[in-house]
Amino acid sequence: MVPVKSVGREAILLVGGEGTRLRPLTLTTPKPMLPVAGVPITVHQIKRAKAAGITRIILGTSYRSDVFADHLGNGAALGVDIVYAHEEQPLGTGGAIRNAAQFLRSGPSEPVVVFNGDVLSGVDIDMLIERHLAADAAVSLHLTRVDDPRRYGLVPTNSEDLVTDFREKPQTEQEIITDQINAGCYVFRRDVVNVIPADTVVSVERETFPFLLQSGARVLGVVDGSYWLDLGTPWDYVRGSCDVVTGIAPGSDHAPAECLVLARASVAEDAVVDGGTTVGESAIVEAGARIHSSVLLSGAIVEAGAHVTASAIGRRARIGAGCVVTGAVIGDDAVIDDGVVVVDGSRIDPGQRLSI
Ligand code: GDD
Ligand code: MG
Repeated sequence: MVPVKSVGREAILLVGGEGTRLRPLTLTTPKPMLPVAGVPITVHQIKRAKAAGITRIILGTSYRSDVFADHLGNGAALGVDIVYAHEEQPLGTGGAIRNAAQFLRSGPSEPVVVFNGDVLSGVDIDMLIERHLAADAAVSLHLTRVDDPRRYGLVPTNSEDLVTDFREKPQTEQEIITDQINAGCYVFRRDVVNVIPADTVVSVERETFPFLLQSGARVLGVVDGSYWLDLGTPWDYVRGSCDVVTGIAPGSDHAPAECLVLARASVAEDAVVDGGTTVGESAIVEAGARIHSSVLLSGAIVEAGAHVTASAIGRRARIGAGCVVTGAVIGDDAVIDDGVVVVDGSRIDPGQRLSI
């Protein structure tokens, strides 16, 4: 077993994906920088990593890396060291891990934690590292159980919690062999990262994990029942944010509440804002408006009597008086004219105007 380090541990945070399923919000803000209860997903993850004794974080960036650097800098404000490992062309999840590893300082047998950058989770990272070390595993994976595993990587385990197979995004019913899925947090023994070829596009899920299993490596799967959500779709993003505000999910700096109203925002006295809604900085909610389980990004305006439910409203977007917006994603600076009913599931582009 590796002795506990006095200098703190290292992690790699994968934040280079394009977030296509979250368009149009991710046209301007990369998915991991979208605010969840007013705080970027990446910051939630860094805080949790820090609480588990991780002091140095390599950010694997590609798409819109400038946004991360502008907000997070060298990490001093969060009390960690942040180093940027940029990919000119996205290298996939495995290639990104390999690319980031050049900046690691850990010894060959020391544990390095890897996080997908779009997950809200209450897993005990310390426990995961301890289990990894105790099992003398090459890699250990946090697993969670979900009702519909098709969108994820399926990871069956045996009676010793060793992973027996890895099926990323199963296509057929026959492939759905378990409800245990890859929860997007791994502990790698540092030298195991070297099995990933350098400077090549590699999927850790489709290539590296199956390769490790085939070559007989000990891959541990730790099933954990704490809160877990991948924020990769608009509906899950909004739900995750509301769950943090209401206290269902961990990570809020505030007491559980029906809504979170950020700095310089204004909410009319007779407006009803609930279900975990965040009213972003400088956003405005006018008289008689009802906003339920939604995210209003900074500067958004919801005018008098409008109803907004289970939606994400982009920065400076305007929802006109009397509009009804349900299950929609409204891009930054879009304008929904008075009285428009936005169809459930709509995505409105940045700057677009919708009229009756
Ligand atoms: N640096 C870098 N480069 N990061 C990347 C790249 C890349 O080329 N591609 C994806 N990422 C990052 C994304 O930004 C995201 O934070 C993370 O890797 C995972 O990518 P997603 O696109 O969100 O993958 P997914 O949700 O479809 O599936 C993954 O996560 C599931 C759990 O949330 C897989 O790991 C599944 O096996 C898993 O079940
Ligand atoms: Mg994801």
